[in-house]
Amino acid sequence: MKGFVFNVLNKMVEEKLGIEAWDQMVNQLSSDSAGVYTSGGTYPDKEFLDLVSDLSERLQTPVAELVRNFGKYALHEMKKQYAIFFEKHSDAKSFLLSIDQVVHVEVKKLYPEAKLPEFLYEDRSPNELVMIYHSERKMCHFAEGLIEVTGEFFGEEIDQRQVQCMHEGAESCRFELKFRGKG
Ligand code: HEM
Ligand SMILES: [Zn+2]
Repeated sequence: MKGFVFNVLNKMVEEKLGIEAWDQMVNQLSSDSAGVYTSGGTYPDKEFLDLVSDLSERLQTPVAELVRNFGKYALHEMKKQYAIFFEKHSDAKSFLLSIDQVVHVEVKKLYPEAKLPEFLYEDRSPNELVMIYHSERKMCHFAEGLIEVTGEFFGEEIDQRQVQCMHEGAESCRFELKFRGKG
């Protein structure tokens, strides 16, 4: 996982619980990165999962809900650091359609060792979109948070239903989205 993701988690923890909590969390890690993450560096997924499960206990929040909240937080950071990807779009659907073949492709050029998830799309009607997510990391709850805040950014409400999920043994996660436009 890229250091960018760890840095966003660090920021969220410091805001919610203070810098001491983050220091304790990284000191408890068994690996040797010892909590020093550079944006371009790559660190073990397990280290991210360990931090998330520690945080889940500290906040008394189930992991799925925590990861979803982290997704919401992360999209705000992405908007600050990668505004250009948002500016090209005037609605949420068009932005979401650009993630697999534009945004994550650019991210991969920037950070060749990044492991980006795969999204397939089914686009059958103007106010609907199906996103089919696949990644060994099974971070669909992270995607849920990102999708929710995407709606807010574009002044839309997105009804999202995950009708099929890798956490329940499916091959991929299937998100059925309905967009309710700017009113
Ligand atoms: C400007 C917007 C975005 C940027 C710059 C961005 C960039 C990134 C980066 C750097 C990672 C980490 C990859 C790694 O550590 O190997 C990542 C992971 C991820 N991204 Fe994006 N992303 C953006 C928007 C989105 C959106 C809108 C979605 C879905 C709706 C999405 C879905 C994911 C997921 C689920 C992961 C977790 C990794 C995995 O599932 O394997 N991203 N993204
Ligand atoms: Zn899922």
